[in-house]
Amino acid sequence: MQIKTAEFVVSNSDVSKCPNNTIPEYAFIGRSNVGKSSLINMITGRKSLAKTSGRPGKTQLINHFIINNNWHLVDLPGYGYAKVSKTAKKKFQQFITDYFLRREQMVWAFVLIDIRHEPQKIDLEFMQWMGENAIPFSIVFTKADKLKPKAIERNVNSYITTLLETWETAPKHFVTSSSSGTGREELLEYIDKMNQK
Ligand code: GTP
Ligand code: MG
Repeated sequence: MQIKTAEFVVSNSDVSKCPNNTIPEYAFIGRSNVGKSSLINMITGRKSLAKTSGRPGKTQLINHFIINNNWHLVDLPGYGYAKVSKTAKKKFQQFITDYFLRREQMVWAFVLIDIRHEPQKIDLEFMQWMGENAIPFSIVFTKADKLKPKAIERNVNSYITTLLETWETAPKHFVTSSSSGTGREELLEYIDKMNQK
């Protein structure tokens, strides 16, 4: 799929205020700093469409971007940011779960996982919650440029093996790098196919 246009639409702290139309949307979620906003920029080919930062906790709202005037990409705040208070964390978590439970336009979610790390409890629990609530998602491994091909393969295999301890089948996964553009075409094709359904 070619990206002809990619524009910011609106930021919200409340799911009920998100765009009120039937445009299909795809959401990026994952821990703070995993690379959600960077991936949106990489996919759209617009360097600073979504705001990124080396410091976790950059994205604080639900951000809608409209692509080719016919689908939305949604950038969400990260979960598991250690530096905020427990109350703030709870509020945040609520905000994210609300989005997934209530947003009918959400066609598919992409759960981002830093390819360098061992499976983390917080991500496994989040995916478990997605499964329990029948929210469809794929896994997107990020920052692949930080590892050599052998290590990528090893980490992906080990991640899938961990998932298979609790999941009957593993969700589909993508390997990406926002620095090199790895995985861009594959992700865009996947979204394109869903848009045509
Ligand atoms: P929050 O909005 O805080 O939840 O973070 P985020 O998940 O949106 O992460 P963001 O895109 O802001 O990126 C966090 C940091 O990781 C930035 O310093 C990015 O430059 C870096 N980063 C993101 N993707 C990649 C990647 O594919 N490769 C490398 N090397 N760095 C990346
Ligand atoms: Mg962000």
